[in-house]
Amino acid sequence: MATPTTSTKLLLSDFASTVQNVPSNYIRPFNDRPNLTQVQVSDASSIPLIDLDGLHGPRHSEIIQQIALACQNDGFFQVKNHGITEEMINNMLNIARKFFKLPESERLKSYSDDPSKTTRLSTSFNVKTEKVANWRDFLRLHCYPLQDYVHEWPTNPPSFREDVAEYCISIRGLVLRLLEAMSESLGLQRDYIDKALSKHGQHMALNYYPPCPQPELTYGLPGHTDPNLITILLHDDVPGLQVLRNGKWVAVNPIPNTFIINIGDQMQVLSNDRYKSVLHRAVVNCDKERISIPTFYCPSPDALIGPAKDLIDHDHPAVYRDFTYAEYYDKFWKRGLETECCLDMFKISTTASSL
Ligand code: OGA
Ligand code: NI
Repeated sequence: MATPTTSTKLLLSDFASTVQNVPSNYIRPFNDRPNLTQVQVSDASSIPLIDLDGLHGPRHSEIIQQIALACQNDGFFQVKNHGITEEMINNMLNIARKFFKLPESERLKSYSDDPSKTTRLSTSFNVKTEKVANWRDFLRLHCYPLQDYVHEWPTNPPSFREDVAEYCISIRGLVLRLLEAMSESLGLQRDYIDKALSKHGQHMALNYYPPCPQPELTYGLPGHTDPNLITILLHDDVPGLQVLRNGKWVAVNPIPNTFIINIGDQMQVLSNDRYKSVLHRAVVNCDKERISIPTFYCPSPDALIGPAKDLIDHDHPAVYRDFTYAEYYDKFWKRGLETECCLDMFKISTTASSL
């Protein structure tokens, strides 16, 4: 059967199941492929699992210590007993599933290729600038302050706005608890990070990765760090997330009713490089669709971000210059998902600082 080299469809989910080969615009160059056979399988020790039960009680200092270690050494951890019900988690995953099963014409009402839009359905990463496409469709929503955005959200499935809004509020509650804990774990005032984010921002993505006939040739998302402060990832039971550890890609095994928390670029800056924004990627597979729902918690665009003054001293000079989050975010989307982190563009050059 002849395979089209490109597709006339806007969304991957509307042609993925009709091709026997990956169309040419999805094929990565030889030296930039997932090498799936060389990926390590995660075991209990590969990503810390932190039990948040007792954070405001008897286990407080133990949990703060665990968070500090995970943020320094791993950049990633999983949380259980996070206060978000199993029912809400399953409901959110189901809403996402239902959304991506809607008829093409219904979904396309939300389509846009303009990354500055606050609500949009799109595909790959940035179709306007990228050279190779990614095996992913996504619905991206801004969700804080809710009342500014909820009227833009899809109205189908019918409970979408209500259910997703409820989920966003709960996740924000979890984030605020984590931000206090992380501030404390850095030896800062408990409200330090809260204040550093100015008015705060919260975005989310509903990622849909269809089954792929040749997963060795392409990515759901290539290796990247997240440009925001911290990410709270909910995913279904299909593996796909991989994290770079000690130079090797490690596959993360989903654990039901947990969230994956990862440090983003802004936390690396605030902590003056103590906490690490770590490379991760999503790979696809032949048999199963996969849903992931990251919440990207971020500063508001006007927030002035830079290393916390209390974390700068003679032995730890400021690694980054101050910048607004708007400036950072704009550079991130224009640059695309390059493996080299966007952070490098905001480093104080060592030659200048040693003068
Ligand atoms: C992201 C991301 C991972 C996944 O959306 O930034 O890293 O498993 N997603 O979908
Ligand atoms: Ni990411």
